[in-house]
Amino acid sequence: IQDDYQMVSAWAAAYVARSINDFKPTARKPFVLGLPTGSSPLGMYKELIRLNRAKKVSFANVVTFNMDEYVGLPKSHPQSYYSFMWDNFFKKIDIKKSNANILNGNAKNLQAECDRYERKIKSYGGIQLFVGGIGPDGHIAFNEPGSSLASRTRVKTLTQDTIIANSRFFDGDLNKVPRTALTVGVATVMDARTVLIIVSGHNKARALEQAVEGGVNHMWTVSCLQLHPHGIIVCDDDATAEM
Ligand code: GLP
Repeated sequence: IQDDYQMVSAWAAAYVARSINDFKPTARKPFVLGLPTGSSPLGMYKELIRLNRAKKVSFANVVTFNMDEYVGLPKSHPQSYYSFMWDNFFKKIDIKKSNANILNGNAKNLQAECDRYERKIKSYGGIQLFVGGIGPDGHIAFNEPGSSLASRTRVKTLTQDTIIANSRFFDGDLNKVPRTALTVGVATVMDARTVLIIVSGHNKARALEQAVEGGVNHMWTVSCLQLHPHGIIVCDDDATAEM
């Protein structure tokens, strides 16, 4: 528990940088990092960019897999997760373009795209560190309430709560928010060696309380973290208001 969002971001960035630096990559075995979108990780990305420019961490031997992507938004749409990641992070660090993996929400066969993504993650020997945020309803990636805790990468219909929450990025217009998304599954996240979840603000307090003090269940999918051998939550004081 940190005092505020800035300290949460600094803590998360330092953890990611240390994990990469402690890993001994080879050409065949890079560091595999899972990444989220959303406002929660923005501060961490800013700090990682600073550390990269200061030569405190390099992404030259890092392969990334993003958690999710909207279905049907063109890659170039400002609210696609592809645009989000390139604008806020990838284009500002030394990552190789081909090493940054993001689900293609415009693939002809969406389930085949999801299966390809799972295979690609496995081809690297799995994810070392999966960083995530959570929705106010406790969803992790786009694993909405009711998602199986055994789920893998797939197409998911967004709940009305998520459509309302995310409409702030679409001029507040619910009709502009895509109805479906591709998302890694709960089990895909749980397979990572370490899972680091960033939680900030009062509007996440109920979700954090359910994640930590509630039972493990599919209505608050972040609660799966209780079963992870190396699950970490870094949060600010505001997010602990219900605990
Ligand atoms: C979206 C994303 C999640 C993210 C959540 C919270 O639903 N699919 O991965 O954790 O938003 O976003 P924010 O951090 O902006 O609150």
